[in-house]
Amino acid sequence: MIPDKKAALVTGSAKGIGRAIARRLLNEGFRVALADRDAAALRKTEAELSAPGDVLAVRMDVAREGDVRRGMAAALKRFKRLDVLVNNAGIADPASGMEVERWRAIIGVNLTGAFLCAKYAEGALRRTKGCVVNIASTRALMSEPGTPAYSASKGGLVALTHSLAISWGPDIRVNCISPGWIANDPHARLRPIDHAQHPVGRVGRPEDVAALAAYLASEEAGFVTGQNFTIDGGMTRKMIYAD
Ligand SMILES: NC(=O)c1ccc[n+]([C@@H]2O[C@H](COP(=O)([O-])OP(=O)(O)OC[C@H]3O[C@@H](n4cnc5c(N)ncnc54)[C@H](O)[C@@H]3O)[C@@H](O)[C@H]2O)c1
Repeated sequence: MIPDKKAALVTGSAKGIGRAIARRLLNEGFRVALADRDAAALRKTEAELSAPGDVLAVRMDVAREGDVRRGMAAALKRFKRLDVLVNNAGIADPASGMEVERWRAIIGVNLTGAFLCAKYAEGALRRTKGCVVNIASTRALMSEPGTPAYSASKGGLVALTHSLAISWGPDIRVNCISPGWIANDPHARLRPIDHAQHPVGRVGRPEDVAALAAYLASEEAGFVTGQNFTIDGGMTRKMIYAD
């Protein structure tokens, strides 16, 4: 018997944007598997969400195939269905430069990690006519100096999104969100200019991304697949040539 209550798995959900997405999906009525490699943060977030029975903490490093296989199996064993996979786990390294070891590590988590999670979720998502939401970055579209691995990993994620959407439709929808600057710490001391430079007048919040993820995960988004949605307060639409 497949239970009625839908289930989601959100990677990198012990903190930040992933935690906000997990919280939002819980509020939307999903059961949620929190998947993260940080065991202590996972325990804290699981307790904070205080929805025993509806939340399962799964320790996994998304870059390791064995972890992903076991983690996905644990979520399916508990929830008996999977409707939404959110590939959010990611590492940023502003100074990765041209070091091939850093390149491999960042691509391994940000891009291969999403590929592996999608691979092990495919069968379950086909059964529920579910969906995947990938969290990329505006760095897929624009760069600061010295971040080739991060930018390439996120550009790859945008391409993985349309590739899977075309490969797995009509059973599974696959979309991508590219956030700009999202301040995860509500107590972070941001300068007035940090907010004012954004066309919307403020820096982003994890809840902004969570709201878009919830829409893409919903049946209302049934005609949407293969797309990348930028959510950046308008920054990628702003001309920044020096006067
Ligand atoms: N915060 C931003 O401004 C911003 C902007 C654009 C894109 N993003 C993307 O959003 C996602 C979340 O970012 P965030 O700011 O919330 O980051 P964060 O560092 O606050 O949280 C990331 C979470 O992912 C987990 N994680 C890292 N590597 C992992 C792995 N190998 N396996 C499992 N879990 C792993 C961490 O333990 C952590 O809980 C990332 O993919 C990031 O690239 C963030």
